[in-house]
Amino acid sequence: MKAVKVGLLGLGVVGGGTWKVLTNNADEIQRRAGRRIEVVGVAVRDVQKAQGLVGDSAYVTQDGMRVVRDPDIDVVVEVIGGETLAREWIMEAIAQGKHVVTANKALLARHGNEIFAAAEAKGVTVAFEAAVAGGIPAIKAIREGLAANQIQWVAGIINGTSNFILSEMRSRGQSFHEALAEAQLLGYAEADPTFDVEGVDAAHKLTLLASIAFGIPVQFNKTHTEGISHLAREDIAHAERLGYRIKLLAITRRSERGIELRVHPTLIPTERLLANVEGAMNAVLVSGDAVGPTLYYGQGAGELPTASAVVADLVDVARAFDVDPAHRVPHLGFQPESMVDIPI
Ligand code: NDP
Ligand code: HSE
Repeated sequence: MKAVKVGLLGLGVVGGGTWKVLTNNADEIQRRAGRRIEVVGVAVRDVQKAQGLVGDSAYVTQDGMRVVRDPDIDVVVEVIGGETLAREWIMEAIAQGKHVVTANKALLARHGNEIFAAAEAKGVTVAFEAAVAGGIPAIKAIREGLAANQIQWVAGIINGTSNFILSEMRSRGQSFHEALAEAQLLGYAEADPTFDVEGVDAAHKLTLLASIAFGIPVQFNKTHTEGISHLAREDIAHAERLGYRIKLLAITRRSERGIELRVHPTLIPTERLLANVEGAMNAVLVSGDAVGPTLYYGQGAGELPTASAVVADLVDVARAFDVDPAHRVPHLGFQPESMVDIPI
């Protein structure tokens, strides 16, 4: 069967990890996808550095549009981050009739409605499992695993950097700035780490989870957002003495007045599961009316865990390659006409 040809925009933490997973697990991935998945073009700023990793297996260019418009490429993976260029390249890829895989929650939280509508109109897929909770298949769990349920609430630790900082401040007595610097070194933090420590990244992800859970449009500007930058080691130690851990929680739930969306530091009794999620691990609790509460746990950031989600999306796209667009899983799990505008 014909291989799926991929254009990779970005070869940093996530793009580099994607390259490695596709290379190291090529046979396994082919068995699962039913065809080979080959990266044929890569766009970066530093061409020489990228050539060190990809050799002559793919061309490397600074011109993302060359990759996006390459007629040989079937799927574009966007892992450069940011909003302007990423949006331009994704919209052009869709216009060219290519499927898109992205890890860019900031972009989807702000422009997801426009991007998903363009993809539906063109009959292509925009897959974004890596945009929420790193390697945990949280989107798939809610959209597919819990498809029989009315979702009641979702609550989770969905920013690895802030959870790492809180854990390091508590267990090793590091300062906020020391712990943030370490998270940056480990590749967990966003290009602008204020997104991590001010709750913005968690709010981006929560917006996407709420859309999938409740069938509402993506509405980032309706989220109450508070971060952890004002917390001192003394706050964390004091909470510990009282039998609590401080965690940055993202919560969305149905209430009588509509859908709540909020991100803020929360005191959790130390014996509870969420209180014991440490380092860059994430945990997402989802409650459905039929199934009750369910828990998803794993690495929420970093090179290979995030690449695991990117490549899983590529496998899904490859499997659905010849499927009529009308029969593919819709982007948020709902057809646009069945989305409801519940007040939030
Ligand atoms: P990095 O900064 O590590 O990598 C960005 C890559 O994009 C680099 O290869 C860079 O090229 C390339 N790039 C940036 N701007 C341009 C440009 N103008 N033209 C061509 N190439 C460009 O970022 P990450 O891999 O950490 O993050 C990428 C995306 O994934 C972001 O949207 C982020 O939010 C998301 N994400 C990140 C996770 C993580 O754990 N890091 C987890 C989940 C999602 P060069 O190498 O030459 O500089
Ligand atoms: N900066 C993000 C985090 C990366 O720390 O969770 C994963 O989305």
